[in-house]
Formats: sequence, structure tokens, C-alpha cells
Amino acid sequence: MVTQISSLNGQALRKAAELIRSGEVVAFPTETVYGLGANAFSDDAVKKIFALKGRPADNPLIVHVALGYDISLLIDCEPNYAPKLRAAFLPGPLTMVYPSTGKVSRYVSCGLNTLAIRVPASPAAQAFLKAVDLPVAAPSANLSKHVSPVTARHVYDDFDGKIELILDGGPCSGGIESTVLDCTGEIPQILREGLVTREMIASVAGDCGVYHAKAGEKPKSPGMAYKHYSPRCKTAYCRSAEEAMALYRAESEAGGTPCVLCERAAAENLKHCKTLVLGASGEEMARNLYALLRQGEKSATLLIGIEPKERGGVMAGVLNRFSRAFGGNHET
Ligand code: TXA
Ligand code: MG
Repeated sequence: MVTQISSLNGQALRKAAELIRSGEVVAFPTETVYGLGANAFSDDAVKKIFALKGRPADNPLIVHVALGYDISLLIDCEPNYAPKLRAAFLPGPLTMVYPSTGKVSRYVSCGLNTLAIRVPASPAAQAFLKAVDLPVAAPSANLSKHVSPVTARHVYDDFDGKIELILDGGPCSGGIESTVLDCTGEIPQILREGLVTREMIASVAGDCGVYHAKAGEKPKSPGMAYKHYSPRCKTAYCRSAEEAMALYRAESEAGGTPCVLCERAAAENLKHCKTLVLGASGEEMARNLYALLRQGEKSATLLIGIEPKERGGVMAGVLNRFSRAFGGNHET
């Protein structure tokens, strides 16, 4: 199969809609990362996503809908804070988990009685969802465990020859996946941190928890239990430039090509090392992280991550992805 990367013109959108309606899978941009979409009502189409990604069968998918789509068909009952959160943050990088009516394919939620729904903000994603005019089940458009894609080229690198169409909306402006928020309890609870922060949610809902699976417990958001965001080279997780330098020297002396990925302030102490610089602010680091991980894995034998010191805002989400990519144990 030839994989076509196409900019978002009318013809490409018509083709994308045709493919989705005939049960095929299409990659599309959002403001967070690229998604690999299929008709959420079709068992066979949803199963294709799992097969293409090599995704574990118990890791549920998010359903994406166009702004204005009536979700009352898909969700059962909701707490009082849910409409307030939708009004405040949607469209945007917030996925809300509701009790499900079970109308979409049972493969979407992998046997859970809940459904995750997202209304992406990016005009490109909205144009795609409006053209399709169906709820679209979509995980991030990377092979399972690999780094999430933030350009059409990243999607191509993982799925060349395996899908027909990648809609190209340019680089994603957000850079890390949406916040996943459990809206089935008395107070909302974050299952995956992202660009909409706990503080932002609490300011609208009055309160907001962050869920951490206890040892031995099956996590509420199964995706967070898996190895994730991994570059395809050796990685090391450090807390200081000194530690990184020692590893860098050892790898160089062994004939390897190390590279350090770190925030701007840390890079200034690493003058003679090859570095990939995340930036200074949380938003900048979120936007750059996945592209740099994918760049690093192409040239380095060892990618050394120095934990950013920046805190607050979107850094909870950034540190979560950073530590998982580098095998660290930062708690968020
Ligand atoms: O920004 C995003 O959310 C991107 C773009 C494409 O929209 N999508 C994305 O999908 O990151 P994925 O499949 O890579 O991650 C979905 C996460 C997983 O951790 C999954 O376990 C969780 O959402 N999830 C999905 N449905 C759920 C449900 N019903 N209950 C709890 N967690 C759920
Ligand atoms: Mg993913």
C-alpha cells in the first residue's frame, strides 16, 4: 500500500471521510499529537487500530467528535461539574471520561463501562471530524510504546505502507497528549496529566484529584500502566549535569554517540556535549519533547535525559512523559 501525506484541502478531506466511512483508518492532526482514527461505531474498523499499532487489547481508546456533536447519545449520566468543564475547556486538550451508553463499538472501551470523549481544538482536527460526521476512535498515531507523533512525517515513519492517508496539518502546537479526566465520581480526577492542569480544572469544578494506581491495582487508565514514549536507543535518566557528563564520557569512550536532552538552563553547563534543548517554559518543553526524542533516537546510541527543574503548570504532564521516556521514576 502506498501511504499518501496530504495537506488539508477539500479533496483530501473528502477522501479521508470516504476512507473512515468504509471502515479504514486515517491519521489526522490535533493540537496535542497526531491521531490514528477509525469509525467508533464499527467493530472491524476499531480492531484495525489495535492491530496496526500493536496495542494491548485492554487499553481503551478516546472517541473524538466535532464541536457541536451531540454526545448525549454516547454518555449516560454526568455529574454537575461536567457541563461547566466542557464550557470552560472545550474544544481543547481535555478528554473527559463518562459513564457510557454502550453505543460505540465495544472494542473502544475494552470492556470498561465508561467512554473517553475529546473535542480537539485544532481547526485541522475539526475540519476532519466535520467532514467525517461520525465519532472517531483514535489513539496517538505511533506504534505501541514508541514516542507519540507531532508531525505527519513522524506518523509516516511508523506507518509507511500500512495506512492509505495521513492528513498533514503541520507540527502540533501543544505537543503532549490531552489531560484524561475521570468524570464519573463526585469530584473530577485526573488519570493522565496534560495541557489542561489540575489547577485549571479545580478552578472551574471546585476540586480536582490526581489518580495514582496503588501497587498491584489495575489502573483506572490502563494506558498509564504500559511502557510508553520510548525512543529506539539506549536511554539514561539523570538529575544533574555532572551525572550526565559522566555517562556522556563513558559512552563516547566506548565508541558510542551520546546526546543529552535537557532544559535550556542545564544545556548551558554542557558546552562540549551534543545536546537537544527542550526550551525554558513548560509550554515550550511540551511542544518540543516528542520531536526531540524522535530526532535523538535517529543519531544517538545513548540519549541522556536531565530532569527539568522547571515546575508548575504543564510541567506535571511534561515530567510524566519525560520520566517514562527515559525510564526515570519521577512521581507526578
Ligand atoms: O491528545 C490525545 O489524547 C491524543 C490525540 C490523538 O487525541 N490521543 C491519545 O490517545 O493520546 P492514546 O490512546 O494514546 O491515549 C489514551 C489514554 C490511554 O491512557 C487510555 O488508557 C486512556 O486514555 N483511556 C481511554 N479510554 C478510557 C476510559 N474509558 N477510562 C479510562 N482511561 C481511558
Ligand atoms: Mg498513546
